[in-house]
Amino acid sequence: MTIRPILLHPDPRLKKAAAPVGTVTPEIEALVADMFETMYDAPGIGLAAPQIGVSRRVIVMDCAGKEETSQPLVMVDPQIVAASEETNTHEEGCLSIPEHFADVTRPAEVTVRWTALDGTAREARFEGLWATCVQHEIDHLDGKLFIDHIGPLRRQMITRKMTKLKRERARA
Ligand code: NI
Repeated sequence: MTIRPILLHPDPRLKKAAAPVGTVTPEIEALVADMFETMYDAPGIGLAAPQIGVSRRVIVMDCAGKEETSQPLVMVDPQIVAASEETNTHEEGCLSIPEHFADVTRPAEVTVRWTALDGTAREARFEGLWATCVQHEIDHLDGKLFIDHIGPLRRQMITRKMTKLKRERARA
């Protein structure tokens, strides 16, 4: 398992739609192991493969609270098959946009269908933080970031600050 560098916004690789996986191979299993390692190290509650520069439809999550036992969940080729009309506003952040947070309104509950690492098809309904997180991560697979859900002025301000941060890090 390797901790992989996380791409920072703005990066064209974060804006690209990722390719479906189809069959789970040992290569995908190794990718998932690296993604968990990278996510827990950050630390974060979710990570999508495009964030480490791999354009495949794979996400990992663990939204368990600090006092709870960890609940690692991996989804290959996830798809939202149903979403509630009721919405929920949650403050979101992203490992690709460190230190910036914004309120994002999304469906409060979603039903997701995905392929598990053992190749079986799964389906489950998510609510609360899990619903927010799974929608945020699936957005990454479509080249979308949480700042694409907020107003253009705020988005441009965050992008400007991130561009500056990346420039400073490149010089360091
Ligand atoms: Ni993110």
